[in-house]
Amino acid sequence: KSKTSNSMWAYKDFFIAGVGYTLFISAIAVFFGFLLGALLALMRLSHNHLIHAVATAYIEFVRGTPLMVQLLFIYFGLGLLVNIPALLSGIIAVALNSAAYVAEVIRSGINSIAKGQTEAARSLGLSRKKTMRYVIMPQAMKNIWPALGNEFVSLIKESSIVSVIGVTDLIYQSRVVQADTYRGVMPLVITMVLYFIITFSLSTLMKHFERKMDHD
Ligand code: ARG
Repeated sequence: KSKTSNSMWAYKDFFIAGVGYTLFISAIAVFFGFLLGALLALMRLSHNHLIHAVATAYIEFVRGTPLMVQLLFIYFGLGLLVNIPALLSGIIAVALNSAAYVAEVIRSGINSIAKGQTEAARSLGLSRKKTMRYVIMPQAMKNIWPALGNEFVSLIKESSIVSVIGVTDLIYQSRVVQADTYRGVMPLVITMVLYFIITFSLSTLMKHFERKMDHD
């Protein structure tokens, strides 16, 4: 029995590297996903039909196709034109995918604010922009922050798909350890536990901040 843990312990650097890549990819992707997602959400709320249509098409298409295909398309498809390294392709794919989901998070956060708020602000003479900036957004953010945290947790799990193009994330490392040790199950168990430790501590942390936000 101790031999099992010993042999797995010998591979700790692989798991640590994998966790590092997984966190790195997810964090960068959620950051850029948020920037692009916020832009897409505003575009979708725009009264300009063309801008609205472009954003809607992007969001629906990205959410309606598997992340795996998007990833392969960026790596191999765009790879025909420009050589994008696997890690960068992975980050781009996950970020572009996340943006579509974040856009919906932001849009529903904005839509959840009662119409009376806009009407009141507008009748007090605030412009559409100022109403959004000073009345709607501050309230909407209360719903948006927690959802963004959930998106980060999702990406930690969903980013595992980058292993198919050879990015050395946690899933990829578990395969390396499997191949090296001839052990099929133990590396998987460790990988699952590591993912769970990360996601559970993140969501516990988020709940803590949510509770704090509710108090003030
Ligand atoms: N696994 C699903 C897919 O392949 C969902 C992706 C979820 N993405 C996200 N950013 N929350 O499309």
